[in-house]
Amino acid sequence: MTTVPTAPRAPTWTEAERDAMGRALQLAAGVRCRTSPNPWVGCAVVAPDGTVLGSGATEPPGGTHAEVGALRQAGERARGATLVVTLEPCSHHGRTPPCTEAVVAAGVRRVVVGTLDPDPRVSGRGVAALAAAGVDVAVGLRAEEVEEQLAPYLKHRSTGRPWVVLKLAASLDGRIAAPDGSAAWITGPEARADVHELRAASDAVLVGAGTVRADDPRLTVRPASGPEPLRQPLRVVLGAADPGARVQPALSLGGELPDVLDELGRRQVLQVLVEGGAGVARQFHAAGLVDRYVLYFAPALFGGEDAVPMFAGPGAGTVADLWRGRLVDVRRVGHDLRVEVAPPARAPVPAEAGDGPDPEGA
Ligand SMILES: NC(=O)c1ccc[n+]([C@@H]2O[C@H](COP(=O)([O-])OP(=O)(O)OC[C@H]3O[C@@H](n4cnc5c(N)ncnc54)[C@H](OP(=O)(O)O)[C@@H]3O)[C@@H](O)[C@H]2O)c1
Repeated sequence: MTTVPTAPRAPTWTEAERDAMGRALQLAAGVRCRTSPNPWVGCAVVAPDGTVLGSGATEPPGGTHAEVGALRQAGERARGATLVVTLEPCSHHGRTPPCTEAVVAAGVRRVVVGTLDPDPRVSGRGVAALAAAGVDVAVGLRAEEVEEQLAPYLKHRSTGRPWVVLKLAASLDGRIAAPDGSAAWITGPEARADVHELRAASDAVLVGAGTVRADDPRLTVRPASGPEPLRQPLRVVLGAADPGARVQPALSLGGELPDVLDELGRRQVLQVLVEGGAGVARQFHAAGLVDRYVLYFAPALFGGEDAVPMFAGPGAGTVADLWRGRLVDVRRVGHDLRVEVAPPARAPVPAEAGDGPDPEGA
């Protein structure tokens, strides 16, 4: 008798598991600004009927991981239950013991994972360790939402570079400062409070030396309400900042932007917020290094061509070369508009002749 090979079975999920992943995503969102350079992960332990037995989210570095927190809450009830977690459980000893050991020791029957962890120390080893211990493992539940939520972490661990968010505040006619260099303030207090949230979610905030000279910004996180941030982002200036500038102490970097990003990645920067000015914005944009554009538009017009544009220097020369992104989010913030845009998906690189699999199968 010949055996016919079958394609691997696509994972399936129950409604209860889908809901539990929603809860895990919510919990992870709540700790977004508190875990870096570790990932912000959420977890729920559920009974087969969907009853939540325990839930948890990553604690600040050195603290408990989401899985361990959820298992502790569930206690003995975790035996035979399902653990739903946004990111693959770790299988290595870091500052805390491997989560996979805790999952197996708790007697969990099934683990449902949103996405795999590209960290070279995990990278499939977490799910493999669970499967080897006899746990039923399924990967990919609500993966798109999980990968959007963890995008800075996933990029850092797979490329060594931070996720780059470019923020600019502009008039409706696309100008970020007046001809005399003044830019405070084009947008209102609500938009500025929103920028502080962006800063709080970033490990570094970067501006050009021109902006330091023009605006003397502090670049600190100053929340409009709520608790003080656990830490301030690293402040980075491209070029040299005056020792007396308010941005000090700041890290001064220069040279090629890919090298700048590599350096920030080495410093465990998962997300860098680029806050201008026009010269720096154009450099990042032209080099295709921006992962997310967050643009605030005030219902205001400079009404001429002498104010500072969003991007200094020449841009697309013809409509065919227009850069077109994908709208991620548009909302009103106070009296202003907040527009979030992602770059277009990169076209797959065509395989060169001879790159494909050997037709002889040798
Ligand atoms: N509305 C907003 O959102 C917003 C935000 C920020 C700034 N702004 C406005 O933008 C204006 C400033 O823009 P800008 O274009 O003049 O200045 P900029 O983009 O802030 O800084 C450009 C300067 O940064 C340094 N630099 C840039 N890339 C570098 C690299 N790879 N290596 C080393 N040094 C590098 C150079 O400094 P050196 O010249 O010292 O060599 C360069 O001249 C101001 O009017 C400010 O108010 C508006």
